[in-house]
Amino acid sequence: MKDLTIAVVGATGAVGVEFLRIMEQRHPDLPCLKLLASSRSAGKRMTVGGKEFVVEETTDGSFNGVDVVFISASSAVSLKYAPIAVACGAVVIDDGSAFRMEDNVPLVVPEVNGADVEWHEGIISIPNCSTTPLVMVAHPLNRVNTIVRMVADTYQSVSGAGGALMEDLREQSRNHLDGIAGSSPLSNQRVAFNVIPQIDRFQPDGYTFEEQKMIQETRKIMHCPSMALSATCVRVPVYVSHSAAVHIEFERPMHPEEARGLLDAMPGVKVVDDPDRGIYPMPCDAEGSDDVLVGRIRRDASHPNGLVLWVVADNLRKGAALNSIQIAEELEARSCLKPGLMPRGKSGIAGR
Ligand SMILES: NC(=O)c1ccc[n+]([C@@H]2O[C@H](COP(=O)([O-])OP(=O)(O)OC[C@H]3O[C@@H](n4cnc5c(N)ncnc54)[C@H](OP(=O)(O)O)[C@@H]3O)[C@@H](O)[C@H]2O)c1
Repeated sequence: MKDLTIAVVGATGAVGVEFLRIMEQRHPDLPCLKLLASSRSAGKRMTVGGKEFVVEETTDGSFNGVDVVFISASSAVSLKYAPIAVACGAVVIDDGSAFRMEDNVPLVVPEVNGADVEWHEGIISIPNCSTTPLVMVAHPLNRVNTIVRMVADTYQSVSGAGGALMEDLREQSRNHLDGIAGSSPLSNQRVAFNVIPQIDRFQPDGYTFEEQKMIQETRKIMHCPSMALSATCVRVPVYVSHSAAVHIEFERPMHPEEARGLLDAMPGVKVVDDPDRGIYPMPCDAEGSDDVLVGRIRRDASHPNGLVLWVVADNLRKGAALNSIQIAEELEARSCLKPGLMPRGKSGIAGR
């Protein structure tokens, strides 16, 4: 990694800052870094691994000589700059939804479908921050007992909507405690002391775009195009870490003990499951952790082949920045930083 030049578009954002923090933790021999953002942040100084960097405005000329570009800003920024970066010879790891469902763009969670990086044509997407923890727990179970249907109901923190909503929650909480009414200009609803059953815009079928993303992305990553899935995505007044109640129906019954063993053996997953002693995953424990935490593993009382899980992960780390850095590591380990060497269709699913 230290021989690469990596550009970070959105370096000043909630995910970008976490990306830089993880980079200094995992790769203390830092790669050559280029910190990019909008014109608003140009000239801002940021320290990474003890070195000071000056943030530059992102322009068409930002990508010459860059090997890997991590984009975490907005779909509009990704759509504008990813093709330019690819034309300059860089591989783009994109954090937004702009390219995720494109046929020629791998959507990757390295522990699940790491080999899919091999057929990239210049752009690799990372999933939505609620999809990643879901596939991390579903994959090791699905390998031994096919999942027929899965329902995930999420409890998503405000950092999932960026740094601005985190600040909003602070201000709304203070105002609410002082008896001052108000709603968030970002979410259009009050997020402090409330839960909001809407993330992103509604679609004609009544689902939100966030829910549709979870459904479609899960199928693509797990290479299960016909898996039955449903989701309800809810914003909660938690700063960091997304949680989900996940109901899984298998082809055959699965004993909770078997599931515990399979999840325990999955890299990047940690079983935290001793409810009698009040031990189960919570957002405050997942914050800052690289692992996806899973607990409350039990039979689903409504179906003989069903299991219920409670899954929590740091949305800024495994949900975004860490997953991106793992993709860069995967590309380097497989010697496929440059595109186009591997035909599509090869199974990229780990353990198959
Ligand atoms: N937060 C999560 O958990 C999460 C998880 C997965 C994916 N994502 C995705 O990651 C992206 C960023 O999320 P975030 O939470 O980090 O948002 P954020 O805190 O609002 O940060 C946005 C970043 O984008 C930069 N930016 C805005 N306009 C730009 C432009 N025209 N050119 C270059 N940079 C520009 C901002 O720079 P300035 O400081 O100059 O404004 C800032 O660095 C979004 O696409 C989001 O969907 C987020």
